[in-house]
Amino acid sequence: MLLGINIDHVATLRQARMGVEPSVLDAAIVAEQAGADLITIHLREDRRHIQDRDVDQIKANIKIPLNFEMSLVEEIVLKALAIKPYKVTIVPEKREEITTEGGLNVDLYRQRLVEVIKRLKNEGIIVSLFVDPSLDVIKDSKDVGADAIEIHTGQYSHAKGEDFQVELEKVKKAVKYADSIGLEVHAGHGLNYQNVGYIAKIPKLVELNIGHSIISRAVFVGLEQAIKEMKALVNVL
Ligand code: PXP
Repeated sequence: MLLGINIDHVATLRQARMGVEPSVLDAAIVAEQAGADLITIHLREDRRHIQDRDVDQIKANIKIPLNFEMSLVEEIVLKALAIKPYKVTIVPEKREEITTEGGLNVDLYRQRLVEVIKRLKNEGIIVSLFVDPSLDVIKDSKDVGADAIEIHTGQYSHAKGEDFQVELEKVKKAVKYADSIGLEVHAGHGLNYQNVGYIAKIPKLVELNIGHSIISRAVFVGLEQAIKEMKALVNVL
């Protein structure tokens, strides 16, 4: 299982003082040295955490692939086309949200997605769509030309009691279906040291993107140790 480390939260801490520390580039380098398979960053339209210069510096200085999360806003699409990350993950974005709240409404943005995906793929960039574990949306993702999907595990992560199993089954079914129609399957959002194990065991799931729980644990044990602990948990198959 590949592990992408989302370091947006390091940038959030830096932006709290609008200064230079903690360094997001250093976080990317430590993550790479600790065994991260990808670095994941989200350049939001409002630039609330990751800044354009972070994207440029990280792209220029890491050897592992960059997973660039972005909305469909033209300015950000142009940034992706300019820096040519290994992979783009298209996410919905609302100004008022604390974090990405739901999966992409692929049907609603069908035309725009077809156009943007074509432009990104022409530059050799792999395109993934961040979607809820819904079979209809997964089918739409294939139709608009995506190479991969990232299944939103937010509902799973918040589920308690009986709902936990229900949400886990939804993710399992979604992975199986996406794989059967030829999409590469990733997952992420809300995963932590307690709940990641069940997800990591799902066959055909090849990549997880995790941020908040790892950066939170890093406060106590350091980033390298926090990543190593997560790596050990996700490498169960
Ligand atoms: N994947 C996507 C598409 C996301 O938007 C986020 C949050 O930025 C993550 C994964 C990581 O989520 P978390 O920080 O809850 O681990």
